[in-house]
Formats: sequence, C-alpha cells, structure tokens
Amino acid sequence: MLVHIISIFPEFFVGPFDCGPTRIAREKGLLKIELVNPRDFTTDTHRSVDDYPYGGGAGMVMKPEPIFLAVESVKQPESKVVLLSPQGERFNQQMAARFRTLPHLIFICGRYKGVDERVRTQLIDEEVSIGDYVLAGGEAAAVVIIESIARLLPGCVGDEDSVASDSFASGILEAPLYTRPREFRGESVPEVLISGNHAAVAEWRRKQALLRTARRRPDLLKNLPLTQAEQEFLHQELEKEINNDIQRENQSSGR
Ligand code: 6GU
Repeated sequence: MLVHIISIFPEFFVGPFDCGPTRIAREKGLLKIELVNPRDFTTDTHRSVDDYPYGGGAGMVMKPEPIFLAVESVKQPESKVVLLSPQGERFNQQMAARFRTLPHLIFICGRYKGVDERVRTQLIDEEVSIGDYVLAGGEAAAVVIIESIARLLPGCVGDEDSVASDSFASGILEAPLYTRPREFRGESVPEVLISGNHAAVAEWRRKQALLRTARRRPDLLKNLPLTQAEQEFLHQELEKEINNDIQRENQSSGR
C-alpha cells in the first residue's frame, strides 16, 4: 500500500519509519511512505502556509490552497484522504484493520489552530483523532496510525498469532506475561504457567484477561460474549475486591 503524508514538518518523520514492523513492511515492499510538504506548493515570497483567522481570535489557521495542491499532486481515484485532527473520529483497532486493506492513504497533518474549513468540506473523506488530548499537530498521530497498520501487514510482526491475540484485536486486554527467571526480586511466576497443563494455562489466561479488562476497561466488557461461568467468576472476584476495599477503608479510619 501507498501512504502519502501531507506535512509542513517532514523532518518529524526522520526515524520512526526506520524501525520495527514499519521498516520491515517498507523493506518487503508492502508499504511505501512518501512525504509532501504544502510549503512546496506556495507561490508567495514568504511561502506562507498559515494566515490569521477571519473573525479574529487566537492562533493561526492553515491556508487551504497549499494543502489542496499538495493533496491533488498525489491523489488518485482510489485514494482515501484522511484529516488528522483532535476533532476526528477516535482511531481504534477496527479502523487500523480497515485502513490496512486500502491501496492509497493520504494523511493531512494539521498544525496551528487547525485547517481552513474548506479542507473539511471539499477535500477529505474522513477525519481521525488518536485520542482525547491535544497534540501540536497531526504528525505524531500519523506515526501512530501507520505503525498500527504496518504491524497488520503479512510477515511484518515476528509471530502472526501474537497479532491475533493482541488486546483490542480480541476486544479484551491481555493476561500478565512472564519469562525467565522463574523468581525475580522475590516475586515468582504463577505455578500454573510452569505446570505444563495447557488447558489450565488457557483457563488462567482467560480469567486474568477478563479480570484485567473488568478492572481497567469495564467499557470493553459490554461488547464481549461471556459464558455464564465467566460472568459468575467475574462477579465473585469483583465482589471480593469490593469487600476488601471496604474492610481496608474501615480499618484505616479506625472503625
Ligand atoms: Cl490527529 N491531531 C492533533 N493535533 N491532536 C490530536 C490528534 C490529532 N489526535 C489526538 N489529539
């Protein structure tokens, strides 16, 4: 697949595409990443890419024409044009899986206060955000999204099974992981993982994953098909936790 990044800071991308799955995907010819600088499409002496907002207010706005010309210099009929901005739809694993299947992606990295609204109304297919916080520009978001796509391309991660069991691919967080040594600074690896009993290991991992998801991301549990036994297990464990919390609270306040 081909990815174009429209950015006035091409130097931002020196490095991040040269390691891990992104480098492998590029070396295998599965992913080609090219940078386009809107400044190269300016015609005024100052080569300005931003201007004051009509109606006043703080901050600068990215001018439409350099962005339009930059996009139009690479756009094909099959291209998907994506604006990266904190106002976009929240990026997630499903979106990564969908983007992976596209032949040509064009990411527009906004800067300053944002882009002229005509970019939104005329130029883009989608607007995407990587989370509820404000970055100085879309460049870091482009790196995040491209890495999440690259590791879904065939043979770009060491172990395909590992991709399938990822948190969020399965809609559930992952169980704790251990490697050697068996004991480290007084903390031992859970016995079940050393037992050699594959069924017991699978059951322990499933339960740990469910517990971790319930504690950290209860919102994910809503979409998860749980067996009756799993629901009861979670209920019991979380009830124990709540009771322990109450007991601790009472002890610390001297009741
Ligand atoms: Cl895509 N851009 C900016 N500027 N800030 C963000 C973002 C994108 N996603 C989250 N915050």
